[in-house]
This record gives sequence, C-alpha cells and structure tokens, in this order.
Amino acid sequence: MLLEHQLTVVTGGSSGIGFATAERFVAEGARVVISGRHAEKLQRAAQKLGENALPIVADAARPDDMQRLYKTAVDHFHCDVNVVVANAGISRQTPVRETSLEQFSEVMAVNVGGVYSTVREALPFLCRPASIVLVASLAANQGTKNFSAYCASKAAVVSLAKSFAAELVEFGIRVNSISPGVANTPIFETLDMSEAQLLEWAKVIPMKRPASPAEIASAILFLATDSSRYMTGADLAVDGGMSGISPF
Ligand SMILES: NC(=O)c1ccc[n+]([C@@H]2O[C@H](COP(=O)([O-])OP(=O)(O)OC[C@H]3O[C@@H](n4cnc5c(N)ncnc54)[C@H](OP(=O)(O)O)[C@@H]3O)[C@@H](O)[C@H]2O)c1
Repeated sequence: MLLEHQLTVVTGGSSGIGFATAERFVAEGARVVISGRHAEKLQRAAQKLGENALPIVADAARPDDMQRLYKTAVDHFHCDVNVVVANAGISRQTPVRETSLEQFSEVMAVNVGGVYSTVREALPFLCRPASIVLVASLAANQGTKNFSAYCASKAAVVSLAKSFAAELVEFGIRVNSISPGVANTPIFETLDMSEAQLLEWAKVIPMKRPASPAEIASAILFLATDSSRYMTGADLAVDGGMSGISPF
C-alpha cells in the first residue's frame, strides 16, 4: 500500500474530488482527515470512509479553523502530517458587469485565501519529508466567459504552488498543483448552468467526456507519494487533453 499509516489531510473531503481522494487514500492504507463547512454532509462522508477517516468541520478560509484542524488531527492520531491536499474550492458565475467586488472577493477568499491558510497553518505539523498538493484548474490558463473570479483564483493557486515549493524545498517539503479539466462532481449544481451548457463543454474535450472524480484522485495520489519524489513546483494537467491538444 502506497500510504500505509500516513496521516493525510484533505480539505473539502465531503464530496467530489476531495471525497474520491480520501477514498483512494484510505484504500492505500492512509489515515485521512476530511474537512468541510457542513457537519452532516461531512459526517456522512466519513461514515462511508470507515474508521481511518476523521471528519473535522473547518472553513478553509479561516486560519483559526485550520489551526484547530491540524492540532486536532495530530492529537487524535499521535503523529505529524505526511500529506496535505488543499482541495476545498467554490465556483460562481461572476460576469464582470454584474459582479460586485464583494462577490469577487468571496471566491478569492475561499480559493486563494483558503489554500494559503491550509498550507501556512499546516507547516508546524508537517513531517519531513512531506507532500502538499494544491487543487487548481485548467481555468488557471484559459479566460472563460463569466468566470473571471474563478479563473483568476486558480491562476493564483498554480502560482502559490511554485512559490511555496521554492520556500519549502530546503525542508524536504514538496509542493505541486494539479489542474483538472472538467470532472463530474456536485460543484456544477451550484453554478446555475443548464445541462445543455455542460454537454457543450464536454464536446470540446478531446476525450469527449468529463473525468470521474476517481481519475483526478489517481493523479493526486501520484503527487502525494514517493512516485513523484523528484517533482516540486510543477502543475499537472489532468484534463482529457484539453490543455495540450488544439481543437482544430
Ligand atoms: N469539478 C471540476 O470540473 C473541477 C475542475 C477543476 C478544478 N476543480 C476544483 O476541484 C476542487 C474540488 O471541487 P469539486 O468539483 O470536487 O466540488 P464539490 O463536489 O463541490 O466539492 C467541494 C468541497 O469543498 C468543500 N468546501 C467548499 N468551500 C469550503 C470552505 N470554505 N472550507 C472548507 N471546505 C469547503 C465542500 O464542502 P462544504 O460545502 O460542506 O464546505 C466540498 O466538500 C475545487 O477546488 C474545484 O475548484 C474542479
């Protein structure tokens, strides 16, 4: 097993990519802390994951919550943290002509501030070596109509991974990001998008289908483990060919 007895933290572990990652990590022998803002949803996810999962209600955008999360995790499992997956994120349509700075800032606070706090508050609790994986997006590199806040936030996540990697390499801490394309998760339920729009998106994927959350989790597992030990500061595209293949 690739993560036997390793303590791992997955923010936003109650659904979608985060839950699939927690499920895969548990299958690989890890002890997994999952977080989210909604207690019941988190509890249901933890029950499915079994006794090696510990649910902790925590808002990734609140440094106090993240400090409490790491302290509770380390006290509970009596060891430091081997792997952090900063996955919690939100998506909103934010057409520039209709979106206030406050609405723009909500997306930035979770997707950028949340990733910052997830990494910063982890540092006193990390093993050496350790691996940190930040969940960015294909959107980091592509302007997308009505999604400027989300795209800008994900560009910031890719950038944070590189600067964190530069600062932490001397401590044996690797930091990489992953950029999924379109993955079939509940995030789209929050987006006020028609199913027809989503089907249009799927058509332009060279592989002609969205990813399953488990397919993204496999790539996160690779970045979390020793298999990627010579990688830091990299961004891994897992997008069915969207970023690498021209549509023409
Ligand atoms: N699905 C895609 O196509 C896709 C593509 C590229 C990148 N991504 C990225 O992948 C990540 C996971 O998204 P997903 O598609 O799996 O969405 P999802 O199913 O909606 O999962 C999001 C998770 O994050 C949690 N969360 C949201 N805000 C949070 C906060 N402030 N603090 C702590 N937890 C929070 C949610 O739980 P609560 O609501 O209970 O807090 C949930 O567990 C996101 O960063 C997203 O941007 C997704």
